[in-house]
Amino acid sequence: MAASDLRRVTGYQDFVDEAPLDLVYVADYTRMNRVPVGQRESYASVAAGAISQNVYLFAASNGLATVIRAWIDRAAIADALGLTHDQQVLLSQTVGYPKKST
Ligand SMILES: Cc1cc2nc3c(=O)[nH]c(=O)nc-3n(C[C@H](O)[C@H](O)[C@H](O)COP(=O)(O)O)c2cc1C
Repeated sequence: MAASDLRRVTGYQDFVDEAPLDLVYVADYTRMNRVPVGQRESYASVAAGAISQNVYLFAASNGLATVIRAWIDRAAIADALGLTHDQQVLLSQTVGYPKKST
């Protein structure tokens, strides 16, 4: 959890700056000792996909909008969050309110 507003760092798309919440999924490979090295990234990616799908389900059932995002500046996010080389930014997910139809 970062104690500052880093939304501008988390993506290239305009809506990211304005949406109330942006989640960043980070794989912490120091906590995956029991997973073979060659499988760690795929395990972490599957987990991030499952978590993000739960966020989609929550959003859908609560009238919120969400977008999972892979088009992100991983180096800038890692720098802003002070991540180590064992912590890899996988995906980001914006959560907000649906656009009001005019
Ligand atoms: C792994 C993955 C990465 C994605 N990355 C982006 C992204 O960086 N930016 C984006 O606008 N949509 C991205 N999408 C697509 C959105 O999550 C979403 O499915 C798409 O915007 C359509 O949403 P809608 O049906 O609510 O309009 C990605 C989808 C997946 C599965």
